[in-house]
Amino acid sequence: MSDETQTPEPKGPIGRFLALPADSVPKTIFVAVAVCLVASMVVSAAAVALRPAQAINAQKDKQINILQVAGIYDPSVDVIEAFGAFEPHVLELDTGEFTDAFDAITFDDRAAADDPATSQALQDDPAGIGRRSDFVTVYLLRDETGEIDKVVLPIHGYGLWSTLYGFIALEANGNDVFGLQFYDHGETPGLGAEVDNPRWRALWNGAQLFDDAGTLQLTVAKTAPAAGEKYHIDALAGATLTSVGVDNMIKFWMGEAGYAPFLENLKEGGV
Ligand SMILES: Cc1cc2nc3c(=O)[nH]c(=O)nc-3n(C[C@H](O)[C@H](O)[C@H](O)COP(=O)(O)O)c2cc1C
Repeated sequence: MSDETQTPEPKGPIGRFLALPADSVPKTIFVAVAVCLVASMVVSAAAVALRPAQAINAQKDKQINILQVAGIYDPSVDVIEAFGAFEPHVLELDTGEFTDAFDAITFDDRAAADDPATSQALQDDPAGIGRRSDFVTVYLLRDETGEIDKVVLPIHGYGLWSTLYGFIALEANGNDVFGLQFYDHGETPGLGAEVDNPRWRALWNGAQLFDDAGTLQLTVAKTAPAAGEKYHIDALAGATLTSVGVDNMIKFWMGEAGYAPFLENLKEGGV
């Protein structure tokens, strides 16, 4: 055979790599790595591109929850338009007074709770939250005459597996509960996640926080407290630990380290 009929020897490392059979180990590894790289770049680009849309959706979801807990959510009405019914305020928890130090529209409650400049580490921490923000965003709903109809207050605390974030809506007297709703938690579906069950949530409507002496009585438990049924929310069946978490959360947020100064202010007509 003459030299002209022989396949020329591949030159350089790339040439030698290309000349390898398609099912060789180096080519298989190369293709796998290349596919992973391209896929991760696509996923990263999508995550970055979708971040603003995700933030808008999270904000919208929170607004829907606030509308729902106050009993004025109507799916046929634009959420932003409906949410305009609320008057947001940044509340200083220790004084129970509103502050203009922050913009209530853009104030980030979770970031404030993490920032040592706007939060404090808790010694007594029944809700298992570690730090409490000094400031929170609360929402007032007024009736046609301009009087306060409801107040919606953010609450959060540890359940069994996760921190539950939600809102409690109170009547203007700062004592009667209108509703409670969580918008973010990681409790088990069918067990702790039954906090989202409309039948359980309905138990909160009409419950009372404080007795006539001003003592916080509302209890989430299997049996009613001595103070009476109106201060009792039945614990979730098979989810006692999540229920205890919700009970602790109520005790904390409606207590002196939470909204008690604000609720006192509300009852005295100072809001
Ligand atoms: C996989 C698994 C998930 C659970 N998730 C929860 C939960 O989300 N919340 C809760 O309180 N208990 C949960 N439990 C049950 C608790 O371990 C515990 O048994 C229960 O809170 C006791 O409630 P009970 O006294 O009403 O039966 C879970 C148990 C298992 C095995």
